[in-house]
Amino acid sequence: MKEREQWGTRAGFILAAIGSAVGLGNIWRFPYVAYENGGGAFFFPYLFALLTAGIPLLIMEFTIGHKYRGSAPLSYARLSKKTEWIGWWQIAISFVISTYYAVIIAWAMAYTYFAVNQRWGEDTGGFLMADYLKRVDLVSGGAPGDIGSLVPGVFIPLVLVWVITLGVLFKGVKRGIEVANRIFIPLLVVMFLLIVVRALTLEGAMLGLDAFFKPNWSEIMTPAVWVAAYGQIFFSLSIGFAIMITYSSYLPKKSDINNNAFITGFSNSSFELLAGIGVFAAIGFMANASGVGINEVASAGIGLAFVVFPEIINTFPGMNGFFGVLFFGSLVLAGLSSLISIVETFVSGIQDKFKISRVKAVMIGGGLSALISILFATQGGLFFLDAADYFINQFGVALAGLVSVVAVSWFVKKLPELQDHANGVSDFRTGLWWKICLGVITPVVLGYMFIQNTIENVT
Ligand code: PHE
Ligand code: NA
Repeated sequence: MKEREQWGTRAGFILAAIGSAVGLGNIWRFPYVAYENGGGAFFFPYLFALLTAGIPLLIMEFTIGHKYRGSAPLSYARLSKKTEWIGWWQIAISFVISTYYAVIIAWAMAYTYFAVNQRWGEDTGGFLMADYLKRVDLVSGGAPGDIGSLVPGVFIPLVLVWVITLGVLFKGVKRGIEVANRIFIPLLVVMFLLIVVRALTLEGAMLGLDAFFKPNWSEIMTPAVWVAAYGQIFFSLSIGFAIMITYSSYLPKKSDINNNAFITGFSNSSFELLAGIGVFAAIGFMANASGVGINEVASAGIGLAFVVFPEIINTFPGMNGFFGVLFFGSLVLAGLSSLISIVETFVSGIQDKFKISRVKAVMIGGGLSALISILFATQGGLFFLDAADYFINQFGVALAGLVSVVAVSWFVKKLPELQDHANGVSDFRTGLWWKICLGVITPVVLGYMFIQNTIENVT
């Protein structure tokens, strides 16, 4: 068989891992999740989840990919015959996510374009989707009703999203994924920093930050807040989705796994914090100027990015178009680098399983996801998109993480072996705490949360 592809440089791998982690979840999801779950107090469950589950699991996934050198199903199969299905399950989740993640990036792309030609104009609801989002709460669901024809608005950007993503994947790991991330991530950081600085210098910015950081201590003892913290960490770090296993399967033999995991984890959380600051500074500006309560603005969920932000940017004192491009362009770059990683997981899985070429696997896997995503972009499709997102968050994200941790630590009992492998190639070693986090703390907390949450949902 042909040799497995490899990253060109260590920085290339780290940038790609960060590119996967830093995505729409950082920019539109984290700020309102933190705000709704205790504000400043949310940082405790969040940090706890990062240190006891996020980074330890990242180390585990990096190690599995590096040691067994395969896509997620192949790596899990090599870990033990009994665990191959975990890899396929994770790939299935990734596939579902890719179909709607692409649509959201296409929205952001459309909005970037509207920022240039000012199509939002005075009326940010002028774009049909904004109108739709205003009437239908995407989080709690609701009837789509008459939303007019969305296809013309989002069809072209959606095609573009897929042309770029599949184009990058055709080129392979080193010349495709690595090169794309080398361009996207530095550009993203610069663009996003510019908009954060602008937001912070607006009148009223501090009002927003006060609201964001104000701790609501009574919240942090409720299970729902911990579920939110773990859910955010898992989604945000792209763990439990087969991604980090796939990416690390392309690492050269000599690679510092432990260090790479810490760098990836902390970079992602820093970007999240930065996004929270930028978004809430802008909300403070709006609240200050219009008299609308921060609470009202902040709880718009996904509408925050696509309805509230155009409004805010429209009222910026000068250079609206430019800042509109910065904000929505950031969403596009962050989203694309994540989408590339999601699609790569099933491309790689198909390639390994059926022993076909990368190009064929991209055409089959990527092509199928692209077709389904076009359905999501049509009139009735938003309804399914909503359902898919709900389903994934309820049954996919943290559950797949929990199952993989329990299987590896308790059923096939591979933690010591994996730890030896990681420590053998890393600069600093992890100790007993790593096994305790994965074998005890994470299963107990996650298990408890699932039971609590199920009870609450049933009653
Ligand atoms: N981590 C990405 C984000 O924060 C989302 C993502 C989830 C990417 C799952 C890949 C897989 O937006
Ligand atoms: Na993220």
